[in-house]
Amino acid sequence: MNIKTLISTEEIQKRVKELADQIEKDYKDKGEIVIVGILKGAFMFMADLVRHLSVPVRCDFLRVSSYDHDVNTGVVRMEFDLTQPVEGKHILMVEDIVDTGNTLRYLLQHLKTKNPASMKIASLLYKEKGAAREMVDYIGFTVPDKYVIGYGLDSEGLYRSLPYIGVFKVVDR
Ligand code: PRP
Repeated sequence: MNIKTLISTEEIQKRVKELADQIEKDYKDKGEIVIVGILKGAFMFMADLVRHLSVPVRCDFLRVSSYDHDVNTGVVRMEFDLTQPVEGKHILMVEDIVDTGNTLRYLLQHLKTKNPASMKIASLLYKEKGAAREMVDYIGFTVPDKYVIGYGLDSEGLYRSLPYIGVFKVVDR
């Protein structure tokens, strides 16, 4: 498999713990957090993140999609929504990566209609050419504008299970 490691498992785990410590501090006087994982990509980051949190959390998920065969169509589709009311609750959305910010913009608007007490966003990765830096409250790593895979991120559905973040190697012919 021609994959070059961009962020190692150890680096990810260290950074996830740092983010959890920061989140823990920020929410310690707020009571419960509803952690909303944006499927599918966020499942691994969310699972690791919540394990470090001792503030009370409820976990929920929603699924949106904007990529079709690895191409960003720019159109965000809601495939399924939260399973619990979040009115008056503190929501922390968890993403694997933020790129154009289209998904986040859509989700912020959508969740606002449910009247939460607050909404914040944690994303493991942020594309350096991304257009939504100000929207993301907790960022794990800024990555170059390349197609990244692993730790939840896929290429045509594969590679999500890798414990590290990688990029495809360019093979010389
Ligand atoms: C990916 C990723 C984000 C979004 C980021 O989701 O998980 O939700 O794209 O891109 P944007 O900032 O340009 O909107 P994708 O549609 O690939 O679904 P997946 O999580 O199921 O892989």
